[in-house]
Amino acid sequence: MQPFDLYLPTHTVFGKGRIEELGKLVAGRGSRVLITYGGGSVVKSGLLADVKKQLAGLEVFEFGGIEPNPKIGTLRKAIELCRKEKIDFMVAVGGGSVIDGTKCIAAGVYYEGDAWDLMYDSSKIGRTVPFFAVLTLAATGSDYDNSGVISNPETNEKLCLAAPNLFPIASILDPTYTFTVPAWHTAAGASDILSHTFEQYFVAEGNEFSDSMCEGMIRTVMKYTPVALKEPENYEARAELMLASSFGCCGLLSIGRTPSPWPCHGIEHEISAWTDITHGAGLAVITPHWMRWSLTEKTAPRFAQYGERIFGLAHNDDPMVTANAAIDRTAQFFRSIGMPAKLSEMGVTAEHFGDMADHVLAHWFPLDGAFRPLDREGILAILNASL
Ligand code: NZQ
Ligand code: ZN
Repeated sequence: MQPFDLYLPTHTVFGKGRIEELGKLVAGRGSRVLITYGGGSVVKSGLLADVKKQLAGLEVFEFGGIEPNPKIGTLRKAIELCRKEKIDFMVAVGGGSVIDGTKCIAAGVYYEGDAWDLMYDSSKIGRTVPFFAVLTLAATGSDYDNSGVISNPETNEKLCLAAPNLFPIASILDPTYTFTVPAWHTAAGASDILSHTFEQYFVAEGNEFSDSMCEGMIRTVMKYTPVALKEPENYEARAELMLASSFGCCGLLSIGRTPSPWPCHGIEHEISAWTDITHGAGLAVITPHWMRWSLTEKTAPRFAQYGERIFGLAHNDDPMVTANAAIDRTAQFFRSIGMPAKLSEMGVTAEHFGDMADHVLAHWFPLDGAFRPLDREGILAILNASL
């Protein structure tokens, strides 16, 4: 059992209609509030109006237009607005991109330089603007963690910022808000949750307790994603997915395990940086190829355990047999929920694979700590197999 820290200060407020408590939750945080949101789904659904109702009596400002794979140029404008209007706190209403973008705004307001610097060095993050989140898409876990992923189309980079004071103060999770999420984003979100779990499950040393939590997460997502796709307004299915998403990235799944450098995420962020593809869809393609590349005599027993416990595969004295079957079943699952099997289906070409490999090695966690240690050649092998 490895030593670990777990720090989870966000107050999770889960359930239908809990938005009615937002006014009470923000009380005492100041009088000038900025609501941040994305391309308009929350305007259409009426959620923005409900949030504003809760903030009645305060000086309310709005900043919409935060893109999927949020762009630093857009966020710089919001930082300026916060400074000009002396914003006391923010309410992020949307999916992971809006919440991540809000974390960048929160960190950028009191930083004297350009907020993009913080992606290279999060230790520069000092005072932050406090913020709340109202989640509308089950995927990233950004509502319950302290990191954000921001894109810079000018440099073709997508990088993370993180700080102990970038947790939302409270996050409202009402599964009914996810009823309107289109099939593509429902499936991509589910793929993202699965990937967060795989990244923490497939490490050298696990333990029974956290193995079981990861397996419960995987079973939940594999059971309820097809239900949510078939019946978008099925409350139980949306609720299970929302719950699973929130605990994917907060560190809970990795307690006592060998720390993981999240190789699939490192590689996928590079693809999104160059091509702006949907994060979860990129992961759905890469993951089975990363698994195949990572399968060796040494890693086979854990892949076999996954196959037996998740897909009910029969025990085979040769773990390679079960492991290979489990990886095939994983790829089949992603395809069954409508995710692509190849990067080229999303318009990705091999043109920048070399740049991606160099960049991930320079700016991501050291990939020699991966389940099977990854070098440049390995990254290129996975990218080419995924094409
Ligand atoms: O912009 P709007 O109009 O709101 O539409 C969004 C967007 O087009 C739409 N949507 C969201 N909720 C909806 C809805 N449409 C209808 N009804 C609703 N209730 O869905 C589209 C995608 O939204 P986005 O926020 O981009 O999706 P997601 O939550 O998957 O976030 C993806 C981003 O998060 C990063 C990814 O890299 C990517 O940039 N990640 C953040 C992490 C974190 N902070 O811990 C970890 C993840 O691994 C991930 O890297
Ligand atoms: Zn992810």
